[in-house]
Amino acid sequence: MQQIVWTFLLFWSILLTTRAGVTCVWSSGCVLPCSSQYHEIIHWYKDGKKNSVHTFYDKADHLDYQDADYKGRTSLFQDQVPQGNASLLLSSIRTTDEGRYKCYTATSSDNREQFIQLSVRAPVKNVDLKLKSGEISCSVEGVYPEPKISWSEDGSPVENFSKEPLRDKDGLFSVSSVFTQSVKENTTYTCSISLVDESQKYTTSLRPENVAISSGQDATIHCPASQENSGDSTITLTFGDSSTILNISQISQLPKDIEWKGEKIQLTPDGTVTIYNLENQEHTGTYRCVRASARSRQEVLTQVQIKSDHTKTGVVVGVVVTVFIVVVICIIVVICWVKKGTKHRKNQTDSSGNNTNSSNGNPNEQEQDIMLSTTDRSSP
Ligand SMILES: *[C@@H]1O[C@H](CO)[C@@H](O)[C@H](O)[C@H]1NC(C)=O
Ligand SMILES: *[C@@H]1O[C@H](CO)[C@@H](O)[C@H](O)[C@H]1NC(C)=O
Ligand SMILES: *[C@@H]1O[C@H](CO)[C@@H](O)[C@H](O)[C@H]1NC(C)=O
Ligand SMILES: *[C@@H]1O[C@H](CO)[C@@H](O)[C@H](O)[C@H]1NC(C)=O
Repeated sequence: MQQIVWTFLLFWSILLTTRAGVTCVWSSGCVLPCSSQYHEIIHWYKDGKKNSVHTFYDKADHLDYQDADYKGRTSLFQDQVPQGNASLLLSSIRTTDEGRYKCYTATSSDNREQFIQLSVRAPVKNVDLKLKSGEISCSVEGVYPEPKISWSEDGSPVENFSKEPLRDKDGLFSVSSVFTQSVKENTTYTCSISLVDESQKYTTSLRPENVAISSGQDATIHCPASQENSGDSTITLTFGDSSTILNISQISQLPKDIEWKGEKIQLTPDGTVTIYNLENQEHTGTYRCVRASARSRQEVLTQVQIKSDHTKTGVVVGVVVTVFIVVVICIIVVICWVKKGTKHRKNQTDSSGNNTNSSNGNPNEQEQDIMLSTTDRSSP
């Protein structure tokens, strides 16, 4: 019987010493659990540190010899110590808090040691995927532990990318990566960030598309297709740097017709956006449709170009120029004839009625008019 009890106790202590672990979120508070029936004296230690993390006896904290890294960040649940709760509350978790902790509890007659492994996580909140001068870059900031970065092109993994990890003063990682192959239209580029221990994965993708229409045509752009686990995703369609066209949290809330700066827009559940009768040149530019959830973000970046109708303009310009030239020629012709007429008059006054021009034999209407007027004048 005694043997069974010992085996059980041994098993229990192995379980406690090897399995106890706690994952704490960077900068927030975290409880290192420990319970013991011997709770008159409580010491918390960390591997590699000589001084204690926290010390409690005579029903009070004694922190004179506390390790400097833990100053002002530790407390016990003092009201629960008499019930055997020796847990330590550690606030403002730092990356350097990672490691193995020992909870030493004792009475004057007995003591107990328990070990807890503390791990720190600074989860990925957002991954920045940018298309700039034909290059796609992916960056993430303030994560812990070090993230792994991977790229894929239309779903196939690619190895051609640069990677630059940096550690900030808090020990958090920032990674910036540039996809080093030429970026193609209608291709989906995906950057995935996962923490080294696979505890978290964040996927973000970008797809460049181009649409060229003539003024007055309908423009069709795409929003990212829904992923299987996108129950909580939001869809945002923006134009340029800031103008929000659409911002919905559920595809089922799809509004029937959207009006945006005088443009009629329709979105279908498959993610196709149609902008009707687009002719306002100010709406030439970049349309960004983003589908985002807690773990992923997909983006389609559509460059819409509205071509003003060149052939039509050409015809109009041609007609205007032709009319102008014709008018100028007419004016010149008229001026010439008027000058010629004055000369006639002069001739007629000089040689009293001697009509030199009649010998032409083929006078036109203008000539006749002038001759008529000269005859009228020369006959008083
Ligand atoms: C000790 O008390 C705190 C605060 O109520 C609680 O969060 C923790 O789980 C308790 N720990 C144990 C081992 O009972
Ligand atoms: C990576 O890019 C270089 C040139 O930029 C190219 O020569 C090489 O074949 C690429 N590698 C792969 C795996 O695509
Ligand atoms: C991209 O897709 C659009 C629409 O499907 C098509 O009109 C266009 O030609 C494609 N571009 C390329 C470079 O394949
Ligand atoms: C979309 O709406 C949500 C709340 O409904 C808001 O938090 C978010 O900032 C909006 N996004 C844009 C781009 O307007």
